[in-house]
Amino acid sequence: MTALVDVLRFVVGPDHVLTDADMRAGYETDWLRQWHGETPCVVRPGTSEEVAGVLRACAAAGVAVVPQGGNTGLVGGSVPRNGAVLLSLQRFNRLGPVDPLAMQVTAGAGVTIEALQLRARAAGLDFAVDWGARATATVGGAVNTNAGGARVVRFGTMRAQVMGLEAVLADGSVLSQLGGLPKETAGPHLPSLLVGSEGTLAVVTAARLRLVPWYRSTAAALVACDSLVHAVSLLPRLRQLPSLDAVELLMPEALSIACAHLGVAAPLSPDGAGAFVLIDCAAHLDPTDELAELLADVQGVLAVGPQRDLLLRIRDHVTIAIGARGVPLKLDVAVPVQHLDRLLRRTQAAVPAGAELVVFGHLAEGNLHINVLGAGAAAADVRAAVLLAAIELDGTISAEHGIGVAKTDWLERLKGPEAMRALRAIKDALDPTGLLNPGVLLPPPSTPTAFT
Ligand code: MLT
Ligand code: ZN
Repeated sequence: MTALVDVLRFVVGPDHVLTDADMRAGYETDWLRQWHGETPCVVRPGTSEEVAGVLRACAAAGVAVVPQGGNTGLVGGSVPRNGAVLLSLQRFNRLGPVDPLAMQVTAGAGVTIEALQLRARAAGLDFAVDWGARATATVGGAVNTNAGGARVVRFGTMRAQVMGLEAVLADGSVLSQLGGLPKETAGPHLPSLLVGSEGTLAVVTAARLRLVPWYRSTAAALVACDSLVHAVSLLPRLRQLPSLDAVELLMPEALSIACAHLGVAAPLSPDGAGAFVLIDCAAHLDPTDELAELLADVQGVLAVGPQRDLLLRIRDHVTIAIGARGVPLKLDVAVPVQHLDRLLRRTQAAVPAGAELVVFGHLAEGNLHINVLGAGAAAADVRAAVLLAAIELDGTISAEHGIGVAKTDWLERLKGPEAMRALRAIKDALDPTGLLNPGVLLPPPSTPTAFT
């Protein structure tokens, strides 16, 4: 390892190879203290050529590489394991000028989502993908997990924003496809192959991203529903709103703990309600009236200006509020919206007495974030029950967080053997020695897939 560290120092400069335990610590544990691992060194290249040098050096030494962006992932995909070198993309923080003709921008993998949004807004545009960890989460991480967030109902996931990528392959070759042409049928779109690949196929160093109009007139509403079924029944009407930007679900316990964490009064009393829907609208012209019309026959509060900001802040803080109560069992599943209630019931039935269940998510996509605090020894059974329910209800075991190391044992059950063979063939072709993020997304080849 000492020899490898020396080579890495030569490749990226001595200041960018961190071996002291204190310096490594922030890279070894994820933001919610859910995942932890150790690395002999953190290497922080600043160019694609340096990434290529790092990969070649690690390949020659037979040491694996774990790429890391903001480390805000929730499935352990960017935390080092088994003596791997941690490759941080933090120094890829270059943001190109906004191209107003194409409505695109090129961003380094280490640019935060918030910085990207601010840059786009300074040019009168916006970046569509948004979620609570925006100040820390990075473009590279968002590409690698196909991040979703709150505005998918309007603009799609990260996949829909990626027009091109620059990435370094395991053999050290640099694939640069940053042209961003909206139409091109010259074979498969390689950048799309890398979206959602969780650092297992290449190290993404930059992305050419689609921008969207910046809708400055906004209005939000929080609606109290009798039940999750009632909440789902609002969707057809909501989808008709031209200004619809987000439809978020907060089960009463999620609303309560987020408000308590922030020290604010709940905008609507969580007592007696079955579910809350947070609707956010944004347009060039004030959307307040169209939202108010909708609210005429439901129980809810309209929020504009600072009241809207507060609603969004409450929603953004659910994850942090859960984290402040302990380390939860965390599952990110999605089913067709008509099956959401069945998913919730099966989840509730699996949670042991005394454990705390906190559910919230993205209603329009049928995406529930299921958090269980204090499950103790029952955690494995709860996990299995929820993932099985998601699959049996025609859904998925991961809607936006990725598979990471958390769910590799369930991937084949979801995808089937044919898809797994195809995924393995792609991995073997691009990374034949298993240099990149081994153990993430695909189970290590020697590990039998657990069908529990
Ligand atoms: C969110 O929607 O807030 C994120 O996906 C984070 C989470 O699931 O906790
Ligand atoms: Zn989410």
